[in-house]
Amino acid sequence: MNVNGVPTRTIWPAADGLGVEIIDQTRLPHDLVVVRLDTVEHAERAIRDMWVRGAPLIGVTAAYGMALAVLADASDDHLDAAYRRLAAARPTAVNLRWALDEMRALLQPLPAAGRRAAAYARAAAMAEEDVAANADLGRHGLTLLESSWAKRQAAGASRLNILTHCNAGWLATVDWGTALAPIYQAEKAGIPLHVWVDETRPRNQGASLTACELNWQGIAHTVIVDNAGGHLMQHGLVDLVIVGSDRTTATGDVCNKIGTYLKALAAKDNGVPFYVALPGSTVDWGIEDGLASIPIEQRDPAEVTHITGRSADGVILVVQLTPDGSPAVNYGFDVTPARLVTRLITERGVCAASRDGLLSLYPEKRSHV
Ligand code: MRU
Repeated sequence: MNVNGVPTRTIWPAADGLGVEIIDQTRLPHDLVVVRLDTVEHAERAIRDMWVRGAPLIGVTAAYGMALAVLADASDDHLDAAYRRLAAARPTAVNLRWALDEMRALLQPLPAAGRRAAAYARAAAMAEEDVAANADLGRHGLTLLESSWAKRQAAGASRLNILTHCNAGWLATVDWGTALAPIYQAEKAGIPLHVWVDETRPRNQGASLTACELNWQGIAHTVIVDNAGGHLMQHGLVDLVIVGSDRTTATGDVCNKIGTYLKALAAKDNGVPFYVALPGSTVDWGIEDGLASIPIEQRDPAEVTHITGRSADGVILVVQLTPDGSPAVNYGFDVTPARLVTRLITERGVCAASRDGLLSLYPEKRSHV
């Protein structure tokens, strides 16, 4: 996508072909800073400390992390250690494990001397596959937005109101995004849009990243506190909800940023369609029950008790919100049961959030479930 008119991605190989460059997302929305990763330790830190985040981007960064590991030492032992180090960086998004498994399956059978070139080539291909999948997913999602808009227009509406949670835009992927990809396609198609952006405490990926993306693209939006969505839906101010996913089970349960479940409940109660956009690499074909099987990341409680922002004189500050001595807990994700999901939007098309729905698009996975 464009940033101030310049086509930009979230991750790319450095000009020397050895390191990898990323946008440090902890510095947005106030500063656009590019950081170079040179080692597998850098890649792990970038994922763990959320310089990069979002399930698809975590996966591609981990793939480049394996390439950086092989660059330093292409032995089996080092490859295994790199796999374990990167896999432990964040537990919930299955794209991380998917990407690491792909890299290990490719590299393990190769002689050490052939691993470096193969690793960089596969990581780069994975980045391109992510871009292509999200572009396709955006086009499939557009059909849903077109039919919603046709109904709203017939009812006299002047714009389509969409609510999204967290950041599932291009900053969460290599390019295009998942939940925001249909929105970008709809904007191009001339549908008048307005996006309600959940702030998404505690790390504020909505207020800082989704709002930033929509500003860059010139799409009308309004940031709301996380608790406002239900009220807006009760008053007919939300036509549909689209979110992304960190892991979707083979039966269509969706794990996504904490707070997603509450939006799905409110959407169900108010008859608002609740769509989830995800590439196939986000489906964990090995599990069925999301609540029982998906590991939910718990992060530092300081992300709840403190907040970062820019003062009036331009200084980035961290301030404490809670009293000294009050404990806090910081769950990163929750699970929305398939029964609350209206449709899944994937790079292969739109389907019901169910085993049959997913298998209709991914028939080759029939033997896995
Ligand atoms: O903790 P984050 O910022 O990595 O969480 C990101 C999300 O929950 C996104 O909605 C999800 O990864 C889908 S991204 C296309």
